[in-house]
Amino acid sequence: MDFVLARHRIVTVSLVLFGCVLVTFIGNLVSRAETPVNRVTEAHQGFQEGKCKSCHPAIWREWENSMHAKAWVDEIYQEFADQIEDRETKCDQCHAPQPILITGVGKMPKLRDEQRASGVSCLVCHLDSEGAMHGPQASAETYFHANVTNPIYTVPTTLCSTCHGQSTVPEHDQVSSFLNSKFAEGNKSCATCHMPVVNRLQSTASYESIKGRKHTWRGSRSVAQLRRAATLQLEILPEKVSVKLQSKTGHILPGGTLRTIILEAKFLSSDGAERQKEQVPISAKAQNRLLPNEERIYIFDTLSGAPGGTITVRLMYQLTPKTPESEWILMGEKTHVVH
Ligand code: HEC
Ligand code: HEC
Ligand code: HEC
Ligand code: HEC
Ligand code: HEC
Repeated sequence: MDFVLARHRIVTVSLVLFGCVLVTFIGNLVSRAETPVNRVTEAHQGFQEGKCKSCHPAIWREWENSMHAKAWVDEIYQEFADQIEDRETKCDQCHAPQPILITGVGKMPKLRDEQRASGVSCLVCHLDSEGAMHGPQASAETYFHANVTNPIYTVPTTLCSTCHGQSTVPEHDQVSSFLNSKFAEGNKSCATCHMPVVNRLQSTASYESIKGRKHTWRGSRSVAQLRRAATLQLEILPEKVSVKLQSKTGHILPGGTLRTIILEAKFLSSDGAERQKEQVPISAKAQNRLLPNEERIYIFDTLSGAPGGTITVRLMYQLTPKTPESEWILMGEKTHVVH
């Protein structure tokens, strides 16, 4: 009897012990899953496995085709960065950054160790140190991430300035010229021109269309955006043509230091033969970029224009110093026929 009782006790004690171990083990798992570090890791895994894409297909598609998605794989970037000895400390931190809500909005970003090919990813702009997604006001909830309403997204110039406005990197600064212009008045921001407003379901789990913004960031690769950048007006004077160029861009134009805008004046005789051609480069290198809204007059001397001849003034865009004239993009054109 004693023997039976003892066995019974042993079984009970073992079960209790086993139970304790199990509870501790599960408890550990649960508490591990809930630590912020783990939620941040899960967000990175989810991004890589296509979870953001499956719940936010429209925003994903826009981002994927933007230069933010290509900020690391971009061949032009890699070619220039390869020429820099300390690229890991001087260049790479903005082209493959850690989430900026974690490293600090407005502070110089830090280089990530993983997933560099995804450049300026969703997580770079939205993920905080707790694994939550910050954004404008949401209309629905999800089990995958917490939503945090954060006012910096509604007028996001400060967010953009983390990479587009570091005072130690003036080559990539569109923010300071913007802040000194009428384009910054009221609630206007970088998003006014680069993230057009759209009403839609923000995710496949949403049930209500609400106001959001397109994640397209059209800039130097968009003909439509380039055509909006400036206007041309001609005035024909005796033996001269006066060209009024006015910037409509919200910042210094061209916005990047690698780009050149070419103002060209061409004079053709009535039989179509080219009699004269002049080109003026406008670039950081030529130190004559246009300020926001700036109006500038260029005067071209014409040979005494015989009737039937034409004067054509064009504005063209050269992406890099290597881009051949045949690939320049037409930004605007005005023609005058001499009577
Ligand atoms: C299971 C579906 C689901 C997954 C997976 C998901 N989201 Fe969301 N997300 C939502 C829903 C639902 C909302 C709220 C949408 C609304 O307001 O209509 C949302 C909102 C957001 C917001 C806005 C938050 C706010 O408060 O304004 C951001 C940013 C966001 N998601 C980013 C991401 C990123 C990045 C990933 C991948 C790491 C991701 N989401 C994965 C469903 C999901
Ligand atoms: C974490 C850094 C970072 C933040 C934040 C950021 N950008 Fe960018 N952005 C970049 C980088 C890097 C590129 C250049 C990619 C390339 O061409 O290789 C870029 C490119 C662009 C382009 C150029 C596209 C083109 O066609 O040349 C636009 C427009 C742009 N960003 C707008 C914005 C706006 C608006 C915001 C704020 C909502 C913003 N960016 C926030 C890093 C950032
Ligand atoms: C403070 C963040 C930051 C740092 C640091 C930085 N970049 Fe960039 N880079 C940007 C942003 C933002 C853009 C897009 C806007 C622009 O062109 O000014 C960009 C664009 C570029 C482009 C144009 C790419 C294209 O497709 O035309 C090149 C080239 C480039 N960067 C090279 C470099 C090199 C080389 C370094 C290091 C010497 C560097 N960047 C450091 C933020 C940064
Ligand atoms: C360069 C920074 C940047 C990147 C990269 C970025 N977003 Fe956003 N996102 C914003 C800003 C700014 C807003 C606020 C727009 C507004 O006012 O509606 C926003 C808003 C959102 C919203 C709320 C809906 C809306 O349109 O306002 C969702 C959801 C979202 N982003 C998801 C994503 C996902 C998913 C990715 C990657 C595919 C991504 N974002 C990449 C800056 C970014
Ligand atoms: C009034 C409209 C407007 C506003 C506001 C505006 N932009 Fe632009 N942006 C343009 C136009 C037009 C272009 C194309 C011409 C050019 O490259 O400068 C452009 C081009 C760019 C480029 C590409 C430059 C290059 O050389 O590749 C970047 C980057 C950029 N903008 C960032 C910003 C940022 C950051 C802000 C906020 C500080 C901003 N923009 C505000 C109209 C605007």
